[in-house]
Parts: sequence; structure tokens; C-alpha cells
Amino acid sequence: MKKILITGGAGFIGSHVVRRFVQNYPDYHIFNLDALTYAGNLENIADIENAPNYTFVKGDIVDADFINQLFNEHRFDGVVHLAAESHVDRSITDPLAFVKTNVIGTMNLLNAAKTIWKDNFDGKRFYHISTDEVYGTLGETGLFTETTAYDPNSPYSASKASSDHFVRAYGETYGLPYVISNCSNNYGPNHFPEKLIPLFINNIINHKPLPVYGDGKYTRDWLFVEDHARAIDLVFHQGGNHETYNIGGFNEWQNIDLVKLLCDIMDRKLGRDTGSSRELITYVKDRPGHDLRYAIDATKINRELGWKPSVTFEEGLEKTIDWYLSNGDWLANVTSGEYANYYKKQYS
Ligand code: NAD
Ligand code: TYD
Repeated sequence: MKKILITGGAGFIGSHVVRRFVQNYPDYHIFNLDALTYAGNLENIADIENAPNYTFVKGDIVDADFINQLFNEHRFDGVVHLAAESHVDRSITDPLAFVKTNVIGTMNLLNAAKTIWKDNFDGKRFYHISTDEVYGTLGETGLFTETTAYDPNSPYSASKASSDHFVRAYGETYGLPYVISNCSNNYGPNHFPEKLIPLFINNIINHKPLPVYGDGKYTRDWLFVEDHARAIDLVFHQGGNHETYNIGGFNEWQNIDLVKLLCDIMDRKLGRDTGSSRELITYVKDRPGHDLRYAIDATKINRELGWKPSVTFEEGLEKTIDWYLSNGDWLANVTSGEYANYYKKQYS
């Protein structure tokens, strides 16, 4: 039985990846390593906690001794690394936390994998999950491809770029078998309400202002989280060694248009007057260093692995909103306590 370590599996994307691997690969034993920071939540994976091929491990990837011990004990065959500090706004107020988890944490995993695999790399794989934000910003036109030069602008994207470089360096220097993917903005169930879509869904439910940064003309490419999890499954199993794959939704939206669409769907679902949620839109101070536009050319993963998004944006948004409307307890739990302090600091 192969032992696969997935890091960050209690978070948004990680929880969907862990569920998929546990359910689709009964011949793997899946270890889910997560520190359960504010963004990690065992409720996200409560449905698989008793699966026979699944073990949850609470631990911090920044703790090198702990990571070395874990790798020594279980001798993992593969690593799917998602654990990270993931929110740009938090990276602006506390950049060092991002260096610790995203750079040092990734280094600790690389060192541990290199140590236990060094005599025989056959069948081993270190899969690093990254973001399109490492490429910096696009102007009005163009797309990020796998050969676009790295040009990160936020502390978050700088830390992810750095970790991508270390993964590549371990491949070139020590022969570590790796693969990397860089994905656009995800949305879907279990998304912590600090990012645009879940934060605005929560605020619409609660009749709170919708804080649009700057003029709202910033553009993002949105992908449903289950489509990302399916891409991760494919890249882990069929992606080429030492290769990078860009993953995107072919689905660009200016923030303000997306927010208006969200308002209109929510009005319909909540039985409110059409246009009433749009009145909550409030333009607020811009994010420093705000990247104008991200857009992915996902031709390579489509051509080589046959992947493409399966869910349209309209379907994905409906599924997402329905999930939040029927998971009020989840939303209440994650927005109690520390969240109120974060919200006040960020938005008042
Ligand atoms: P998230 O913030 O929802 O979850 C991160 C998870 O990592 C949490 O469960 C948290 O507890 C865990 N974690 C954080 N620090 C840790 C540490 N030191 N040790 C162990 N666990 C720790 O993030 P997400 O949105 O699910 O993103 C997952 C990965 O995908 C990240 O690497 C992110 O950079 C990448 N990514 C995210 C997006 C997106 O739109 N969300 C897009 C592209 C790539
Ligand atoms: P976000 O969800 O934080 O993802 P990222 O910064 O990684 O792309 O933000 C998506 C877009 O929405 C980005 O252009 C910033 C903007 N935004 C707002 O206008 N208001 C908000 O409150 C948030 C969280 C984001």
C-alpha cells in the first residue's frame, strides 16, 4: 500500500483533494498533515475521518524535527503539498508568517523527502501546489503560460515564488522527483470567508457592506475547487517529472461584475427584491500593490493530460451559494472569535 502525505488537507482546496484521494484510491493510505491554523477546519473533512485508509496528523511544517520524525516513521511514497498561508491581505500585515510556512515549511518537507528517498527516487514524487500569482500582473491583454517569467508583487506571491524555486532547485541539484502546478483563483464550498467570494456571500446573508477594493476593475480567472482537485489528481498521477502545469478556468471576471452577479443570484435565492444586495456595494481603499489582472493559458494541461474545467461559472456559483446557505453552522463557527478581530482590523 502506498503512503501519500497531503499537507494542508483541512483547508479549502486541501479538504477537496484529501476527500478525492481517500475515496478514489483505496490502495493508498492518505496522511493529512495540518496545523489547524485559523484557515484549517476538521469540519471540512468530517465525512471521511473514519475511512480505513485515512489518518489525520496535527502538526506544523515549520517544525523541522517533527517533520523529519514523521517522514522517518512513515516513509511516504509521495507528497502533495498544499499547506500554506494563503491570503494576500494577511501577507501585507504579517509577511514573516508567510516566509515561515510557505518557504521554511516547504524546505523542511523537501529536506525530509530528500533524506528518506535519496537511495532510490523510483516511484517517488513531490508535488508542490502553487499559484498563478507568482507571475505578477498582466495588463489588459495576454495570458500566463508555463514559461512566463516569475515577477511576484505581494509578500504572499513572493513566498510562493520562492518555494516554487526551491522545489525546482531540489530537482536540479539533488534529482528530487517533483512536479508543480500554478492555478488561478479557486472558489467553492469550504472557502474561508476572508477571500472575495465567500466573504461577500457571508456579508450579503448578513446585510453587511460589500467592500470592493479600489475601482473594482481588477480581473481574476475563477476555477471551481472540484475542478482544481481533479487537475491535482491528474498531475500527481500523470504529470511529467520536473514539469510545471498552469491550471485555470478560462473564466475572467472584473471584480465589480462578479460582485453584481453574486448579488443578483443571492437576491433570487434569499427571496429579496432584485437589486437590494447591490446597494450593499461599497468602494473602499485599494489593496497596496494590487495586481491588475491574472489569466491563465491552460493549454498544456489540456493537451498533455486532457484536463479542462467541467463546471461553468454559473453552475459553480450556484453550487457554492447553495452550500453556504445550507451550512450556516459552518459559517457561524468560522466567523466567531478571531474572525471578528481580523475583520475589524482589515475593514474599519
Ligand atoms: P487555506 O488557507 O484555505 O488552507 C491552508 C491550510 O494549510 C489550512 O488547513 C491550514 O491549517 C494549513 N496550514 C497553514 N500553515 C500551516 C503550517 N505551518 N503547517 C501545517 N499546516 C498549515 O488555503 P487554500 O486556499 O486551500 O490553498 C491551498 C494551497 O493552494 C496553497 O498552497 C495556496 O498557495 C494554493 N493555491 C490557492 C489558490 C486559491 O485560490 N485559494 C489558488 C492557487 C493556489
Ligand atoms: P482574493 O479573494 O483575496 O484573492 P487574490 O487576491 O488572491 O486574487 O481577492 C480577489 C480579488 O478581489 C482581488 O482583486 C482583491 C479583491 N477583493 C476586494 O475587492 N475586496 C475584498 O474584501 C477582498 C477580500 C478582495
